[in-house]
Amino acid sequence: MINRDKENYDRAVEIADGVFWVGFNDTQEGLHCNPYLIIDGEEAVVIDGGSRPDFPTVMTKILQTGITPKSICALIYQHYDPDLCGSVSNYEDIIDRDDLKIISKEENSMFIRHYSLSSKIVSVETLGYNFAFASGRKLAFYSTPYAHLGGSFVTFDSKSGVMFSSDLFGSYGSKWQLFLEIKKECRICENYDKCPLNEDYCHVREILKFHKMMMPCERSLIHALETMATIPFTKIAPQHGSCIFNTEDIVFMFNKLVKLKKVGIDGILDDRPYGELGNINPLLERFRSNE
Ligand SMILES: [Fe+2]
Ligand SMILES: [Fe+2]
Repeated sequence: MINRDKENYDRAVEIADGVFWVGFNDTQEGLHCNPYLIIDGEEAVVIDGGSRPDFPTVMTKILQTGITPKSICALIYQHYDPDLCGSVSNYEDIIDRDDLKIISKEENSMFIRHYSLSSKIVSVETLGYNFAFASGRKLAFYSTPYAHLGGSFVTFDSKSGVMFSSDLFGSYGSKWQLFLEIKKECRICENYDKCPLNEDYCHVREILKFHKMMMPCERSLIHALETMATIPFTKIAPQHGSCIFNTEDIVFMFNKLVKLKKVGIDGILDDRPYGELGNINPLLERFRSNE
């Protein structure tokens, strides 16, 4: 049963059928990481397992679900950042299975192997972009290149309808809550930088700010949103920030993000047209003067 008890973040929270949030509600840290555990019969997989400092808390929550570490057959890493891969060797130690698999994209594997001591790294390409539990439950993988890393991808669990979106739909929120609730007023707001209601915190603003900061450019974000729009999900579970389960909120955030401007390098180069870019004359002049 889905538990939305906000006071109960000290426990693993079942957010959907067999899907558990096992993150650390660290009130000292702004950037909350959300590792997820999927339990299917005798098997379990962990998605974006978390950082090394968070590992004791995350593993305690995994054990609270009643599984043994040995039942974890695979660790899925949707890119290679330390906030999700930092604890790979801790998982390997406690799971202690010769056949433990690390699943990721090939572009990530060359970095993940620097965290991993013993596991076989299997690429989603080799798996045909699908992972099947013994029961037949399937996880499907979709590439979202450069959103934010070259090998980034998202994972769709058809049984629960959850799309694990990694950094996409994430936010750097100091007022964290597991489930996003967007107020009616915020859906029609015209100025997210200065709240007309004088609220000191705005979930929408935080999500937009996070994408401007984390995504490399508008085109990579738009491409990822177009890809995600083809996935028949009903719930979004990001690696940071809040889960988005309300259909209206999902549609609202897709609309906001697909029109977002000044994302990554586009915000730094601002409105400089492409024709004006590429001026390396200072270097050419300097070397010419050395001739
Ligand atoms: Fe990341
Ligand atoms: Fe992240």
